[in-house]
Amino acid sequence: MTDTIPPDKSPYREDFPIFTAAGNEHLVYLDSAATSQKPSAVIRAVEEFETTFNSNVHRGIYPLSEKATEAYELAREKFRSFINARHSEEIIFVRGATEALNIIALSLGINRLKEGDEVLTTVMEHHSNIVPWQLLSWKGVRVKYAGIDDRGRLDMDDLNSKIGKRTRIVTVSHVSNVLGTINNVRELGRIAHDNGSIFIVDGAQSVPHMPVDVQAMNCDLMAVSGHKMCAPTGIGVLYGRRKLLQEMEPAFGGGEMISEVKQSGSSWADLPYKFEAGTPNISGAIGLGAAVDYLNGIGMEKLEEYEKGLLSYALSRMMEQDDIEIYGPRDPEERSGLISFNLKGVHGHDVAEILGREGVATRSGHHCAQPLMDVLNEPSTTRASFYLYNGREDVDALMSAIDKVRHVFR
Ligand SMILES: Cc1ncc(COP(=O)(O)O)c(C=O)c1O
Repeated sequence: MTDTIPPDKSPYREDFPIFTAAGNEHLVYLDSAATSQKPSAVIRAVEEFETTFNSNVHRGIYPLSEKATEAYELAREKFRSFINARHSEEIIFVRGATEALNIIALSLGINRLKEGDEVLTTVMEHHSNIVPWQLLSWKGVRVKYAGIDDRGRLDMDDLNSKIGKRTRIVTVSHVSNVLGTINNVRELGRIAHDNGSIFIVDGAQSVPHMPVDVQAMNCDLMAVSGHKMCAPTGIGVLYGRRKLLQEMEPAFGGGEMISEVKQSGSSWADLPYKFEAGTPNISGAIGLGAAVDYLNGIGMEKLEEYEKGLLSYALSRMMEQDDIEIYGPRDPEERSGLISFNLKGVHGHDVAEILGREGVATRSGHHCAQPLMDVLNEPSTTRASFYLYNGREDVDALMSAIDKVRHVFR
């Protein structure tokens, strides 16, 4: 357990203008796993682009467009360094983690997967790491699911029993968006590669919260969501090892992704443009670059430590209460900064609604992880998810609001 006691008020809260907007002064925002708030630095970077050098990238040969191209490519370089990728061509800008995983599945479906091949994933995945693979069923590709133990950790024996010579792909979330479980991606990468499988990581819930090094993880492909890490919505990253991306077919066709187009067929542009068809989200990418600068200014190790402190505090407060059932590992070292829970005898939606009325924003439902809810045998949970702008006061407000729910329902 971490010894760091979180402060009552987060020292980072004032970087986020939403908390000083009229009516939001007491906002308790515990839904960062859905989307994070945006710091002024990101909002300013987007505004500067839109108001002073908005133009398309890689097309114009006039100064405004050159400036936009430079800023767009600088954002790519910032993100490369953030996840320690080797080459900037390995960073492909996409709309979000969902689009990244769909592009990966579509592309691998074109020339790497054939009838009878298997994709091994887990029961704790977000739908975006399940459905794109199920969509390949027309090709005869089968999806298998590794289970979890009674503490919400990946069942490695089950996973090892399901990997085999037909397993072409192993694809796993780094952090579960419901259980908070941190999966041992290094070990999973070793198992996948020993089996000759491609190893894919869904980094939507990890990259915003902890240092992530794609070389150390040895993953072949990774999906990242920008809007969960202080960047605007509509921007994300598909990371891929250069050699693999070079071998993969583009999933989308159109402008910018080609080298030459003839009536008889086309050839593709070099990386990363082969996977960036059409006008990209330029302001989003610039915002993501600013988000990386902002997070680096704090330091990802420090941010992780800060969140662990908050998580430990919240877990200990919740575990004191007999009528609260918590899902996922009990040890903060095994999980990230989100807690899914149920208050005995009260539906998750009712809990979230009353919390909302008390000014505490949480999320309830199946969290786009229905196969996991089936395993947990729960229709719904309420999820409180933390980020750097939360402090002890937010956890205390959550606990008082839960008291209110008890009061209403009993
Ligand atoms: C684990 C996980 N994967 C993927 C996604 C989808 O991310 P995006 O909203 O960027 O498409 C989410 C979003 O909640 C998630 O939690």
